[in-house]
Amino acid sequence: MKIEELKELIIENLKDKNEEFKRIFHGRGNFYDDYNFLTIDSIDEVLFIVLFDELEKKKDDELLKMIKDIFEFFNYKTLVLQRRYLDKSPCELLEGTLKENNIAIESSIKYHISFTNKNIGFFPDMKVGHDYISNIAKDKNVLNLFSYTCAFSLSASKAGASKVVNVDMSKTALTIGRKNHHLNNLDTSNIYFMPYNILKSWNRIKKQGPYDIIIIDPPSFQKGSFAASKDYEKIIKKLDSLASEECVVLSALNAPELDTVFIKNIFKKYASVFKFEKRLENMNTFPSIDEEKSLKNLIFVK
Ligand SMILES: C[S@@+](CC[C@H](N)C(=O)[O-])C[C@H]1O[C@@H](n2cnc3c(N)ncnc32)[C@H](O)[C@@H]1O
Repeated sequence: MKIEELKELIIENLKDKNEEFKRIFHGRGNFYDDYNFLTIDSIDEVLFIVLFDELEKKKDDELLKMIKDIFEFFNYKTLVLQRRYLDKSPCELLEGTLKENNIAIESSIKYHISFTNKNIGFFPDMKVGHDYISNIAKDKNVLNLFSYTCAFSLSASKAGASKVVNVDMSKTALTIGRKNHHLNNLDTSNIYFMPYNILKSWNRIKKQGPYDIIIIDPPSFQKGSFAASKDYEKIIKKLDSLASEECVVLSALNAPELDTVFIKNIFKKYASVFKFEKRLENMNTFPSIDEEKSLKNLIFVK
């Protein structure tokens, strides 16, 4: 794809631009084979570019010039670039000023985000999962495993869940999660924030059960904390002891090397009372040439 074609595609994708977060270019799924190093997000008044590989100077200049044209044409206020291939992935402010508190909006829910971290504070490809949970969470007791900044908790609590238990070993992520509830004026009296290593805290997690909805959204690999290839089954082995009679499980995985069969087989082996219902379809703003390599959200029902 030539740079002019890329520009046209971005302009097309920005036609319905509004304050909601939108991935306006997603190269990571290799769908646009010569741009797998690039993602571009529209975050209200911020245009956010991530470069995953170092480019030749000429190509880098050409790309950033095109993006600056887009920035001006659509009247964005701030242009931020993250060079993800650099060690600490610092963000550069290319245009405008950066507010102290930045917010992303997904399905009318607000999230605190920060451009100082590699991950800005929420995972936009999981919108399908968040929306699914908001449709089923009313009056339910929800367990949100690997909650990060509590995105699922916001969806569930906004939809009227009776209780949400968020578990993540990162206290920082949970602190942002709590702030995210306040940002959305959600009452936190029935929202729990548990800063534990999930693999070592089953008794504490079980105390708040049984759960009507269980969300499992782990990293594919985090050194010393979780490796999906060997640890995913440890979670599934515990499921039945945490679940209510008609529990719904959202089992997610974003490891390109582990496919849907990997998850289904673990359920068959260790939690066969849960039947596979469906896989949630990924958003078309995150195109991929191989769906098995992209985000998998599988629904199982007891
Ligand atoms: C992919 S993120 C979860 C994203 C989140 N569900 C969402 O929708 O935004 C993975 C999280 O798992 C947490 N984590 C990794 N290993 C863990 C463990 N053994 N126990 C608890 N949390 C863990 C990390 O701190 C990180 O916040």
